[in-house]
Formats: sequence, C-alpha cells, structure tokens
Amino acid sequence: MTPSHNIQNLSSLEQLQQYQNQYKDCRIGLVPTMGNLHSGHLSLVETVAAHCDKVMVSIFVNPAQFSPQEDFASYPRTLEKDIALLANTACSAIFIPKNEEIYPSNAALSIYNLQNYPDVEPLSKVLCGVSRPHFFDGVVKVVCRLFELVQPYCACFGEKDYQQLLILQKITAKLFPTIKILSSPTKRNAKKLALSSRNNYFDAEQLEFATQLPNCMKETVQRLVSCQSKEQWQIILKEAKKHLEKYFSIDYFEVRDNDDLQLVESPNAKLNARLFAAVYLQDVRLIDNNPIT
Ligand code: PAJ
Repeated sequence: MTPSHNIQNLSSLEQLQQYQNQYKDCRIGLVPTMGNLHSGHLSLVETVAAHCDKVMVSIFVNPAQFSPQEDFASYPRTLEKDIALLANTACSAIFIPKNEEIYPSNAALSIYNLQNYPDVEPLSKVLCGVSRPHFFDGVVKVVCRLFELVQPYCACFGEKDYQQLLILQKITAKLFPTIKILSSPTKRNAKKLALSSRNNYFDAEQLEFATQLPNCMKETVQRLVSCQSKEQWQIILKEAKKHLEKYFSIDYFEVRDNDDLQLVESPNAKLNARLFAAVYLQDVRLIDNNPIT
C-alpha cells in the first residue's frame, strides 16, 4: 500500500477533466462507491492499485437505485471521514460529482436501460431484484455514466454484492469492452459479519444478532457440500431458514448458479454455485453470499 499524501478532490466535471489531462498517459483504476467508507471499500482500492497507475474513488449516493420507501435521505454521508480514510491508501483522486452532472436533463442515458439487454436483464429479476425492482437499473445507469465520464482502464467491485458484480461484468463487456472489471473478496469483521455501511444503523446488541447470518450461512454451506440427495438439500435449507427466522425476517435464502443465477435445487458433482441471503433485522437489510466449496 502506497500512502498518498496529496489526494485530489474532484468535485466538478471540469476538475475531473483537468485531472484526466494531467494524467493522460496513466491508466486510471476506478472504485465506484456511495461513501461511508470502511475497510471493505479500501480493499477494492488495493485490488485496483495493482492493475493501474492512478486510483480514483468516486463517492456518489445514487438516488436512482433507491425506491421512495428506502433510505436515500438517511444513507450515511461522511465525506470528511472518507477523505481521511483514503489518505492512507493508494487512492490519488476522489471524484465527488453533483447529481446534475451524473443525471443532466439532456443526457442520453436511456442506452443504459437494462431492458435494452435481454441477455443481461434476467439477472436483475431474481434475488435482490425481486424486492428492489428499480435497484439494478439504477446501479447500471450510474456505473455506466461514471465509466463514460472517467473512462477508466479498470474498475473494481466487491463480491459482497455478487449479483451487482455479475450484472456489471456483463453490461461492461457489452458497452465498455475495453474496461477491465476486477473483483475483491468480501471483508468481514472479527465475528465474520460482512462489512457494510448499513451496519452503522445497529447498536451493539443488534450487531451481535446480525452475526447469526454469516454463522448460519457458513454452517449451511458445509452441510450442502457433503449433501447427497435432493431431499436432504431441501431439508438443509429449510432448517437453516427456520433458525434464521428466530432473528430476522428473511427476504431470500437460496442457492444459485455463479454465472446465470439459476436456482440450484439439488447437489451436483459439478456444482458452481453460491448460497445467497438477504434478511431484515428490524428495518435494516443485510445481504451476504458464500460459494459452495
Ligand atoms: P457501496 O455500497 O458504497 O459499495 C461500493 C463497493 O464496495 C461495491 O463494489 C461493493 O460490493 C463493495 N463492498 C461493500 N462492502 C464490501 C465488503 N464488506 N467487502 C468487499 N467489498 C465491499 O455498491 C455500491 O456502493 C453501489 O451500488 C455502486 C456500485 C457504487 C453504484 O452506486
């Protein structure tokens, strides 16, 4: 990790352009975020740094990926802290665009509508796409717009949001084939809870409760790995859900294929799948996934 002491704050398109001119011969690696950074985000900075000359982190709380009932207004905005955290990393610029720069009224962003891509869109209709039907459209729109503006050499996303990573990999291959998409493993706290900006909503007792999710997922994966029959497979998932229901309200708890996100409902010698979960603890949504290996 190279400490960067003079991070540039780019808070307008003009400043972005100046930076691009200044480093026109450099390969820029982009880490898109919504801020409220934690060491999960910082691990993406390290991953990207190994593949490019200059790391740029974007911070933009994207209204298009929140529905009216969701937490856009209260989403934690901690810019000063974020800048301080990035000062000890390989990040060399922070891009903080304004809403009207990402979504100008005259921008032709409809090219980024997921419905234009029938081989990618089905990936957005399962898992998180069921209870958040607007979500992946909003994510694709903002990330494509950032790619259009920044024109990075590569960009990195976390496996914690595996469905998001998969959809962005596919759409980037179509629309920005020269941009390399990298991924980084899920960072967890000492109790194995996946780090998330939304963990900040929890008090100490709720945080303790939340660790039931990764514990149960780990145990379930171990059981699935040695499972021999379809009946047993279903029983394992049913028992795990029954356990989780003591602590959470479950949105989904499913095994799906790593590439096409089709449901996997029985053991298979060539299993290439993950256990995916989304639960609510009070009103706070937690998601996680684990490969079945
Ligand atoms: P955000 O939740 O801020 O996450 C930014 C990036 O950090 C995403 O790629 C996410 O997968 C990754 N990340 C979050 N928690 C992580 C963890 N515990 N370990 C490893 N990586 C982690 O995801 C978004 O923002 C937005 O949807 C965005 C892609 C920026 C579009 O608005």
